[in-house]
Amino acid sequence: MIYVFGGIKGGVGKTTVALNFVQFLAGGLQKDVLLIDADDQETATDYTAWRDSTLDGQLGYTAVKITGDAIRSQMPNLKKKYDDIIIDTGGRDTRSQRAALTVADVYLIPFYPRSFDFWTVTKVQHLINEIKIVNPKLKAITFLNRADIRSADNRDTATALEEAEGITYFNFPLLNRKCFSNAAGKGLSVFEFEPKDEKAINELNALFEEIIKLT
Ligand SMILES: Nc1ncnc2c1ncn2[C@@H]1O[C@H](COP(=O)(O)OP(=O)(O)O)[C@@H](O)[C@H]1O
Ligand SMILES: [Mg+2]
Repeated sequence: MIYVFGGIKGGVGKTTVALNFVQFLAGGLQKDVLLIDADDQETATDYTAWRDSTLDGQLGYTAVKITGDAIRSQMPNLKKKYDDIIIDTGGRDTRSQRAALTVADVYLIPFYPRSFDFWTVTKVQHLINEIKIVNPKLKAITFLNRADIRSADNRDTATALEEAEGITYFNFPLLNRKCFSNAAGKGLSVFEFEPKDEKAINELNALFEEIIKLT
């Protein structure tokens, strides 16, 4: 399966959730996973470098940087070699994100409730409609990330996402939790970081188990 983390906003947690999903598949389910960093900011690549030093080379997955149309042209070959491919894209409607979406099975779009604006959803819907002309099998999923425990923002954003046509809202929010940045700073996933944050792990498992049911 080919999963693309994207959207048209920065800082919503695309890379963070993508990296934890890589570990869920590679470490948890023992899949052979390829992580493609398709963002020029290279956050996933930096994380992998930290991980390499923390774990002494035992990454548990393969990471490469590919951008632009090469994502599409290389995919037939890469698809044969890996169980799952995760593509992390930047926070804009880029050539890389479009190339990735033309070959993807699942498009995962996190939303940060506090910075939510309805235009972002509308723009994402337009992008999906365009991509579906060439890739009708694409499934687009939204979920909340960095949500608060109790907040009207969560509810308002969730309602807007639920009502958005052509996109499926997964009601498995990830709350705002310190362990995400603590773990990432060491090149570790939330599943691996000690002391373990069981609440965060449970939230990730609930979301990811729902995502892999799409296969
Ligand atoms: N659930 C979360 N709880 C707390 N912090 C988070 C969470 N998800 C992401 N972050 C933090 O938010 C910031 C932006 O995340 P990042 O994954 O880089 O976003 P994007 O890739 O969408 O630009 C990072 O500092 C990251 O540690
Ligand atoms: Mg990112």
